[in-house]
Amino acid sequence: MKAIVYQKYGSPNVLQLKEVAKPIPKDNEILIRIYATPVNYGDITTRNFRKISPRKFTMPLPLWLPVRIMFGFRKPRKKILGSELAGEVEAVGKDVKLFKKGDQVFGYRGMSMGANAEYLCMPEDELVAIKPANMTYEEAAAVPYGALTALNLLRKVNIQSGQKVLINGASGGIGSHAVQLAKYFGAEVTGVCSTPRLELVKSLGADKVIDYTKEDFTKSGEAYDLIFDILGKSSFSRCKRSLKKNGRYLLASFGMRQLFQMLWTKIKGSKKVICAMSSERTEDLIFIKELIEAGKIKSVIDRRYPLEQTAEAHRYVEKGLKKGHVVITLKHNNKT
Ligand SMILES: NC(=O)c1ccc[n+]([C@@H]2O[C@H](COP(=O)([O-])OP(=O)(O)OC[C@H]3O[C@@H](n4cnc5c(N)ncnc54)[C@H](OP(=O)(O)O)[C@@H]3O)[C@@H](O)[C@H]2O)c1
Repeated sequence: MKAIVYQKYGSPNVLQLKEVAKPIPKDNEILIRIYATPVNYGDITTRNFRKISPRKFTMPLPLWLPVRIMFGFRKPRKKILGSELAGEVEAVGKDVKLFKKGDQVFGYRGMSMGANAEYLCMPEDELVAIKPANMTYEEAAAVPYGALTALNLLRKVNIQSGQKVLINGASGGIGSHAVQLAKYFGAEVTGVCSTPRLELVKSLGADKVIDYTKEDFTKSGEAYDLIFDILGKSSFSRCKRSLKKNGRYLLASFGMRQLFQMLWTKIKGSKKVICAMSSERTEDLIFIKELIEAGKIKSVIDRRYPLEQTAEAHRYVEKGLKKGHVVITLKHNNKT
C-alpha cells in the first residue's frame, strides 16, 4: 500500500510517498481503508519534533524529555503521521463484534498516528465509531481530535447553559469545536481569532468575534464565566479582570507557571486557573457523532490534497494560512 513515510525530523520535505506492507488485522482489530486524514497541529509538531525545544514545548517542562523519547529522540519512532481518519472497514479480526466489513467509520489515533496511509488497523475498542451519516469522509475525518479535546476540557470546568464564554484561539482545531460545543451547552460565546478567520468563527455560531490584531479582549470591559485559551497566548494576570466572580481560566497549553497558578488559585480567591489534559473515550466520539447528526457540529474544509501532496498540505498549514481544516484525500480504485 502507499503511505507517507518520514525517516527523520525536519521540514515538509522529509515526507516521502513510499510503498509499505499493508497491515493485517489482529483478532480484535478492524482494517480501515482510509479515504480522508487531516493535517492537524499534532502532525506539524511531530514531524518537526527535534525543533521543539523545552522553551517551545506547550506542556509542563518535566514532560519534555519523556515525550521526546517516546516520539524518538534523534529520529521518529513512528514513521507514518496522521492522527485522524475516516474510511471504510475492509476486514475484521475474528473476535470483532462492534464493526463489520463495509461500515463507514471515523476515528482518532492520538499519538499512535499512522493514518497518512491507504490502510490502517485499529482495535475495535479504541477511538473509532460509525461515521456521522450526514458528513463526507473529509468532513468527518476533521472532527475527532478537536471535538474530543474541546468536549473533554469543557466538561472539566462543568460548562453550563447561560454562561458567558470566551474562546481564545477560536479558529483552530480545538477552538473551532469549542465554539460549537459551548453553543450546544447553551453558552453565549465570544471567539477570538485573527482578521482572516473572523468569518469562519462567526459561521461556527459564535455570538461575537474579536480580532486580536485590533482589540485586546482583556481591555473590552466584558466579564466572562469562562475564558478558554487554547494556545495559552493570554495570561491569568491579564485575564483576571475579564473573569466574573467564580470565573474559570481554562488552559489547553500550559507550563509549570500555570500549574503553580492552578494550585495557588485552588486555595485562594474565587477565580480559578484550570490546566487540563483531555482523556478521550469512545463514548465521547459516539456522542459527537450524534451531535453532528443533530446538526450541532459541522466541519469547514479549507483545502484538500491528494496523498502524494501531503508535504504541500503541511507547508500550507505551517504557514498559518488555513481557514478551517486541511484534509489529505485518498482514492481507491476510483472510489473516493
Ligand atoms: N490539554 C490537552 O489535552 C491538549 C490536547 C491537544 C492539544 N493541546 C494543545 O493545543 C494546542 C493546539 O491547538 P489547536 O490544535 O487548536 O491548534 P491549531 O489548529 O494550530 O490552531 C491554533 C489557532 O490559534 C490561533 N492563534 C494564533 N496566535 C494566536 C493569538 N495570539 N491569540 C489567539 N489565537 C491565536 C490561530 O488562528 P488565528 O491566526 O486566526 O488566531 C490558530 O487557528 C497546542 O498547544 C497543544 O499542545 C492540548
